[in-house]
Amino acid sequence: MTDTPKFTQSRRQFLAGAAVATGAAATGKLVHAQAASPDPAITELQPWQQYLGPGVDNAPYGVPSPHEAHVIRRNVEWLTADTVSSINFTPLHELEGIITPNGLCFERHHSGVADIPWADHRLMINGLVDTPMVFTMDDLMRFPRENRTYFLECAANTGMEWRGAQLNGVQFTHGMIHNVVYTGVPLRLLLEEAGVQTNGTWLLAEGADASGMTRSIPMEKALDDCLVATHMNGERLRAEQGYPVRLVVPGWEGNMWVKWLRRIEVGDMPWHHREETSKYTDLLADGQARRFTWEMDAKSVITNPSPQAPITHGPGPTVLTGVAWSGRGTIPRVDVTLDGGINWHRARMSGPSLDKSMHRFYFEFEWDGRPLLLQSRAHDSTGYVQPTKDQLRAVRGVNSIYHNNGIQTWAINEGGQAENVEVG
Ligand code: MTE
Ligand code: CO
Repeated sequence: MTDTPKFTQSRRQFLAGAAVATGAAATGKLVHAQAASPDPAITELQPWQQYLGPGVDNAPYGVPSPHEAHVIRRNVEWLTADTVSSINFTPLHELEGIITPNGLCFERHHSGVADIPWADHRLMINGLVDTPMVFTMDDLMRFPRENRTYFLECAANTGMEWRGAQLNGVQFTHGMIHNVVYTGVPLRLLLEEAGVQTNGTWLLAEGADASGMTRSIPMEKALDDCLVATHMNGERLRAEQGYPVRLVVPGWEGNMWVKWLRRIEVGDMPWHHREETSKYTDLLADGQARRFTWEMDAKSVITNPSPQAPITHGPGPTVLTGVAWSGRGTIPRVDVTLDGGINWHRARMSGPSLDKSMHRFYFEFEWDGRPLLLQSRAHDSTGYVQPTKDQLRAVRGVNSIYHNNGIQTWAINEGGQAENVEVG
C-alpha cells in the first residue's frame, strides 16, 4: 500500500478527453468466456480429480480456501507509530452481500487486544443507581437476549480524504466499517436491574483494556437500542472485537462501542473525557468545534470496480457494486453515475434492508471501454441525500477528520484500472 499523490480532475477536462460512456442498464446478454480450444481445463484430468482430499476434521475450525489468502485486513504502516494503538481495514472490495465475516472485521485498538477469559470478566454498574451490581458473563447469559444487525463505522473512516484524494483503495478510504449480527442483552434490562435513579441522565462506558477507554452516552440512547453484546455472527465475539463483551451503540460512531466492557457508571452529566474532547470533535473554519456528533450520516461507496479491483475483462457487460448505510435508518435508494455526476442512474438494491445496517447495491452496464468517473450517492429513509465533498467542505471547512461522508469518485481508464480522484 503506497500513498498516491493527490490527483484532481475537473469534469470539464474529463468531458474534453473522452465521450461519456452510456449508462445502459443490464443488457441481458450472456457473457461468453474466451476459452482456448481445446481448453485443457476441460479436456485434461485435473490433479484434484486424481487424489482423495483431506477428510473431515482436517480443519476443526474452518478457514477460508488457501486460494483466497489475499483477502485480509490490511493496515497502512505510516499512519500510526506502532500496531498497538492503530487501525486496520476491512477489504470491502473482496466482499459481497451485507455481512462482514468475523475474521475480516477491521480492528481499532488504543492499547492492543485485551486477553480476558470468559470466567474472569466482570461487568459493574455503579453511580446513580439503587443497587450497584457486578455481573459475571454467566450472569449476563441469564437475561433475555436479542439478535440485531448493525454497521459499526469509525468516525475517522475516510478521514484522510478531507482535503483531496489520498489513499488508493476502497479498503483504505472506506474500510473502517463492518456489519455484523450481534446477540446481546438490551442495556435497558441491566439498567433496570440496578435501578437508575431519577437524576441518572448519562452513563459512562469503560473498557477493561489497558487504555481504559471511556465514553459518555445519554440515558435516552442507552434505554432505546443499545446492546451488551456477547456474540457476533453467531459465535462469541472475537478477541479483537471485545471478547467477552462489548457495547453496541446502533448508528453511532464506532468509538462509543466500548470493547471489553467492564463498567457502566450512571451520572447526571457528560464526563467530557479524552475521546469526546480532544478526539471525536470536529474543528470548524471559525475555530469552534462541533461536539457530540454521535450519529453516522448516510454514506455509500462503490467497492467494485475500485483501485484494488480493476475491470480486467475489457469492454462489455460489467457489474458495478457497492455498499451504503445510515446511522438514522435504512437506505431505500442509491444512485450511481459513470460520468462524474452528469447522468445519474438508480442502482438495484439487493439483500436485507435493515435499520442502521449495511445495504448492498448493484448497477449492471455495458462498458464501451472509454474512461469512466464512477460515483455513488445514498438516500436514507429520513430523506437525507449524501453530499458531494465540496458541499461537505462548504459547511464543515477543511480541518475535520471525522464524519467525512462525501461522495467518492473512482476514475477508470481505458485499461480498466481505477484511481482515487476528486471531481472539481
Ligand atoms: N473500546 C476499547 N475498550 N478500546 C478501544 O481501543 N476503540 C474504539 C471502539 N471501542 C476501542 C474501543 C474505536 S475508535 C472503534 S472505531 C471501535 O471500537 C472499533 O471496533 P472494532 O475493533 O471491532 O472494529
Ligand atoms: Co474509531
